[in-house]
Amino acid sequence: MISLPLNPAAIPANIPRTTKLRFIIALCVCALLFSAHLVVNQRYPVPDVQTALPKQRFAYVTYVTSEEYVCTTLVMFDSLLAAGKRKDVDLVALVTQGISVNSTARIEGLGARIVKVDVIRTLRGDETWKESLTKMFAFKLIEYERIILMDADGIILKPLDFLFDLPPYFLYAPRAYWLSDVTLTSILYVIQTSEALYTTQYDILKAAEAISKPVYDMDIANEAFAKTAALLPNGIAILNGDFKRSPSVKAPSHLFWNVSRLAEEVKYVHWSESPMGNLGVDQKASFIAIAQL
Ligand SMILES: *[C@@H]1O[C@H](CO)[C@@H](O)[C@H](O)[C@H]1NC(C)=O
Ligand SMILES: *[C@@H]1O[C@H](CO)[C@@H](O)[C@H](O)[C@H]1NC(C)=O
Repeated sequence: MISLPLNPAAIPANIPRTTKLRFIIALCVCALLFSAHLVVNQRYPVPDVQTALPKQRFAYVTYVTSEEYVCTTLVMFDSLLAAGKRKDVDLVALVTQGISVNSTARIEGLGARIVKVDVIRTLRGDETWKESLTKMFAFKLIEYERIILMDADGIILKPLDFLFDLPPYFLYAPRAYWLSDVTLTSILYVIQTSEALYTTQYDILKAAEAISKPVYDMDIANEAFAKTAALLPNGIAILNGDFKRSPSVKAPSHLFWNVSRLAEEVKYVHWSESPMGNLGVDQKASFIAIAQL
């Protein structure tokens, strides 16, 4: 790396005027070339941060790729505020271009910071999860030290702030307890943000696309981190399906708790009604009914 005198006053005075001028022009050309080089090297889309940079270290983050997700985001953030959160934690919504100004304003109205992002979608595959890859952007919200990333089609029943105090580690995730293998579920992550966490996943996506293999965010996260991420204890983040059982039976998400105990302890419930789709119109009412089990 050549060090250039960025301040023209640093050029020795005994050099003739035209040489000085040429030197300054050369310097400008260099600066231009260098910025062009930076642009060319920008292999990955960068979130276009719309609002002022935050002063907080922590944030709850979700992503919004459709008007339906605007609705669930409002419900989710509202439930989060009702459950309670620390003052030093921001609410952030990653919002894609298709979302209307009014919808964006409604999310902002809950005190959330809006970060505009491009959609990342799989080229093929299931409609429900096609655009869920967009959540990868959250991994590089490096203006925060640590974030909790949650799918918007869920509801918070108890404060989650304690997750910000976990010992430093790049990723904590719940186990996909409904699968027999040790697999991470992508419904909730505790992330120590870094550009590398994003690029690792983006590279896996590109490699899958090169061989026309459909992959979703959960596949990518597991390929990248299943062996290294820390598992969150079961019972913190679960699927609503657990509550379709009688209160006295054993909860699928916990070795010892029955469904009634699970309802008392659970913090985040994710709506998952595959193959009916992930969104419930009366989502909040259903969850409140569940919470009153
Ligand atoms: C957006 O909000 C403004 C002001 O509340 C309203 O006049 C307008 O009709 C809304 N636009 C849409 C598309 O809903
Ligand atoms: C669930 O388990 C708890 C003990 O963890 C017990 O006290 C409670 O009665 C059980 N509830 C039902 C409905 O079986």
